[in-house]
Amino acid sequence: MSAEMKARRVRKAVLPVAGLGTRVLPATKAIPKEMLPVFDRPAIQYVVDEALAAGIEHFIFVTGRNKNAIEDYFDRAYELEDTLRQKNKTALLAELDSFALPPGATSFVRQQAPLGLGHAVWCARDIVGDEPFAVLLPDMLTMAAPGCPKSCLEQMMEHYGYVGGNLIAVEPTDAPWNYGVIAPESHEGRRIKMAGMVEKPPKGTEPSNLFITGRYILQPEIFALLESQGKGAGGEIQLTDSMVRLMQTQDFHAVAYDGRSYDCGDKIGYLNAVAAFSLANPEHREAAAQTLSAALEKARR
Ligand code: G1P
Repeated sequence: MSAEMKARRVRKAVLPVAGLGTRVLPATKAIPKEMLPVFDRPAIQYVVDEALAAGIEHFIFVTGRNKNAIEDYFDRAYELEDTLRQKNKTALLAELDSFALPPGATSFVRQQAPLGLGHAVWCARDIVGDEPFAVLLPDMLTMAAPGCPKSCLEQMMEHYGYVGGNLIAVEPTDAPWNYGVIAPESHEGRRIKMAGMVEKPPKGTEPSNLFITGRYILQPEIFALLESQGKGAGGEIQLTDSMVRLMQTQDFHAVAYDGRSYDCGDKIGYLNAVAAFSLANPEHREAAAQTLSAALEKARR
């Protein structure tokens, strides 16, 4: 089969946003963790931007109770826009407009019970249909390395164009037992052929230090496997466990992408993201750098 045939176009992305954000309470008691601001915009905006840059056209949010703010955020805010218009705040209006997604480009489906990531992705099966799709976990923000013009998902799409099949992004970590971890078999540049993967391996048994960073390109056959998937690590239905089963019949590669991720589901990871994304903001990076270093200097005195 040619690479073109294997790599059918990826148009849809699933964004599981039903999680409770318990690691960042109390901040997430009344606000979805995906809506926490990372410098000047909600965390979820960076994830949507990453997906848009990679050619994604339709966003499927798997939501839960208390997540209405996400749906509102991706809708028009008529009263706000009207007020801005009356006050001639045209630049602000244009900025708001630049974040708007086209009509019909979003779908929302509820995961009624927190049964795990695998179950959340399965909840999107009817909207995804019979085509390859991306999954982006929105509490992980990724940033391309300085000088690298392509986002994590864009880099994955490039590899997908060559090998098709299923791909996951990976990155080294000091604490692999907290994540899904891959067993690499062989490397071809940044692309890794995998021997296996495991979700939250017990400390000391990790097959490598390469963890799954929450960016996936998957074939639709994963849904049938998710449907029959039993509980795994943490008593949850794990996406990783179904990917292990899919690996028996389909190609799977990992991409050690050029960049790094920030875990916003964790308090220090979140702080790290705020610092990194403010320092990467073209308009505010100078002032952000001065503010951050002045704050550190003061704290050290
Ligand atoms: C999920 C995945 C895990 C991945 C992680 C990245 O775990 O199951 O494989 O490494 O996201 O954030 P969770 O964070 O939901 O426990």
